[in-house]
Amino acid sequence: MSTFTIDTATSRATPTPVPGKRMTAPAIRSRKVGGTTAEPIVMLTAYTMRMAQLLDPHCDLLLVGDSLGQVIYGLPSTVPVTIEMMCNHGAAVVRGSWHAMVAVDMPFGSYEGSPEQAFESAARVMKDSGCAAVKLEGGEAIAPTIEFLSKRGIPVIGHVGLTPQAVNQLGGYGARGKNQAEADRILADARAVADAGAFCMVIEGVMEQLADDITAAVAVPTIGIGASAQCDGQVLVTEDMLGLFERTPRFVKRYDDIAARVTTAAAQYAGEVRTRSFPTHEQTYRPKG
Ligand code: KIV
Repeated sequence: MSTFTIDTATSRATPTPVPGKRMTAPAIRSRKVGGTTAEPIVMLTAYTMRMAQLLDPHCDLLLVGDSLGQVIYGLPSTVPVTIEMMCNHGAAVVRGSWHAMVAVDMPFGSYEGSPEQAFESAARVMKDSGCAAVKLEGGEAIAPTIEFLSKRGIPVIGHVGLTPQAVNQLGGYGARGKNQAEADRILADARAVADAGAFCMVIEGVMEQLADDITAAVAVPTIGIGASAQCDGQVLVTEDMLGLFERTPRFVKRYDDIAARVTTAAAQYAGEVRTRSFPTHEQTYRPKG
């Protein structure tokens, strides 16, 4: 059990959490009424306490995505991500948020074996992190597991289309649903996930028309990434959106160029250390008076 609350006595705890009611799975689900979502669902990834604090006031959902494998740990894919990583980062994000619902990705290998394995893993993730929902990848094959979890008190977010944990089978991260047979299969996946009880689903990396067809076909909200503006919500990997990496996938819009800013700041700091112009008396301790 690694769930702590922020110690507000420390200077790095700001801003002080604002007590209030968090978003819930039923609140997210009920955004879509009769096939229409008046207020699109805003979702971003978060892996750390401070980033959660900054994003929380603006988001309905914070996703502790297994993309942390690449973004935080420099792993080649999400496949090596462990349940411990997800629990620890999930707990940090829960500590740093008070408004958004926090959902944690089930890592590869923690849920595919059986519904019982999935329940044990999901319960552990929820207990250790304090999150209120889990996300798992897959369509028709994983639908019985989604039903098993949903009927046992675990809110589930589905994930169809491009499913990165299956990269070794898919052969890459290209968009899905380019031919009719594949599009039909992904539509069937989405229907199965919704019928199984997922309260919303991520649609990743599919042809725009397919995302529109899925959004029209399922009663639950769809949250797009590389999908369509017609989805009921959108999600991006925060570090992509902030411009932390040189490569920007087509579906990402950069809202900042954080890599350039970090580089400039680090270069300035290095220069000042080497010329002994940092620290100055302003940053050092001397006797008073
Ligand atoms: O792991 C992740 O960040 C995700 C989002 C891209 C939806 O699954």
